[in-house]
Amino acid sequence: PVMNEVSGLDNLEERLKEALNIPEVFIVPGDSDDTPWVKKEMGRAAVGRLKKFQLTRRVIAVTGGTTLAGVADMMIPSSDMEGTLFVPARGGLGEQVENQANTICAKMARKAHTDYRLLHVPDQLSEEAYQSLIEEPGVKDLLEIIKSAGIVIHGIGEAKTMAQRRKSTLDVIDKIEQEHAVAEAFGYYFNQSGEVVHKVKTIGLQLEDLERSELVIAVAGGRSKAKAIEAYLKTGIQSILVTDEGAAKALLEGT
Ligand code: G3H
Repeated sequence: PVMNEVSGLDNLEERLKEALNIPEVFIVPGDSDDTPWVKKEMGRAAVGRLKKFQLTRRVIAVTGGTTLAGVADMMIPSSDMEGTLFVPARGGLGEQVENQANTICAKMARKAHTDYRLLHVPDQLSEEAYQSLIEEPGVKDLLEIIKSAGIVIHGIGEAKTMAQRRKSTLDVIDKIEQEHAVAEAFGYYFNQSGEVVHKVKTIGLQLEDLERSELVIAVAGGRSKAKAIEAYLKTGIQSILVTDEGAAKALLEGT
């Protein structure tokens, strides 16, 4: 029975790769909508994939969220992580502290026995504050490091869920609804064609910076995220997807 289960997921991975037109997909058993610890299994798979890459003196940018917290839980040290630096991908997005990229980045580095840098930016920035902050020497240096990240690990959220969880203003929630946003990643909101319809104003990695990254791992599961995952992957960013059976089956039914 174990063998059958494994080959069943292998088959699902093949079908999903083809349906989504992406080079690599990893599916873990279960559905994280029903069983939260499935996020740790996705975390284990994401860490496993990360470790296949040469990590010495690399910059790894990470986002926030409960799924990335699961990745941090499963992080382990390895001999080739000397000089590897974890940084948050973008500044404040309105998350609670345990879901913030800074928190997750520090935890990953601690578990990997390596270094991290934190980005301290308020969640809501006026244009003037934004312009002066990015000129601050400490911030400017760190921004360059973040933008140079060769490796990015990020979550994908369902648009409305994320806007509400981050206590976005009613204007923003209305905009997201009117523009039919279905997905969120890095503080960008996407419609079902993968077009950006809203972007949270914060400093850090921008979507176009991802084109220069060598390894981008998207970690997102649960059947409730199927449409979000599909929409995000339409942006054309060459991400490796780590997901769960719940999302994978819902995705294949929908495509
Ligand atoms: O950007 C996406 C969100 O951070 C995903 O959050 O992992 O808690 O669903 P989540």
